[in-house]
Amino acid sequence: MKTVIEETYEEMSRTAARMVAEEIRRKPSLVLGLATGGTPLGMYKELIRMHREEGLDFSEVITFNLDEYYGLSPEDEHSYHYYMHENFFKHINIKPENIHIPSGTATDIDKFCEEYDKEIQRVGGIDLQVLGIGRNGHIGFNEPGDELITETHVTILTEETRMANARFFGNLNNVPQKAVTMGLGTIMKAKKILLLASGREKAVIMAELLSDTSVTTRVPASFLHLHPDTTVIIDREAAMELL
Ligand code: F6R
Repeated sequence: MKTVIEETYEEMSRTAARMVAEEIRRKPSLVLGLATGGTPLGMYKELIRMHREEGLDFSEVITFNLDEYYGLSPEDEHSYHYYMHENFFKHINIKPENIHIPSGTATDIDKFCEEYDKEIQRVGGIDLQVLGIGRNGHIGFNEPGDELITETHVTILTEETRMANARFFGNLNNVPQKAVTMGLGTIMKAKKILLLASGREKAVIMAELLSDTSVTTRVPASFLHLHPDTTVIIDREAAMELL
């Protein structure tokens, strides 16, 4: 695992965007795995700027998002569909048919999950997966536990995760109990992984992840130690507890 420490959130975001852009320029039909939440917002902003000012071309890029809240429709302003369109997709020249986000409302959700993984395989697998990390070490919505699930699946969110995300919903009661997420196997199959972490609330988990190379289902992100090409980009605040 390669680690890059940047001084500020903005620098972390620019470095991440530069790495994504480099991959797109190298392979215009890049299969790009994407995350939501607060962390990648700066990276999306910078990628939009690169599209507008430097002609970064998304016309052949194929995207797969990590997760979606179970029960939220794409029109719901708290859904990750809505987030992705508002914060990224509507500002770039990506083809709508190249965008994939797990459905939170599919009638046969298990079948949908199976299809989602198959679709990733059909396009040749994820070339570059962008990840954030939860304070409890979750990636996607693969929460700590006795076991982790390989494929895309429906998961129950921990109280900790619901509390952390209540800031987007105004109130804890409004945060869905479940989500649809890529599994650990789906994530680990990505050829390249970029994990971003920012702010002091991520300092403890980042110190744990980067100082201890053991792998445990109690810290889902620890599986990244087994991945051959993972780069972690963090800002100074998230690096605060590193020795
Ligand atoms: C989001 C996702 C989550 C977040 C994580 C951190 O698609 O998969 O794992 O990356 O919860 O969220 P923020 O960035 O809001 O701290």
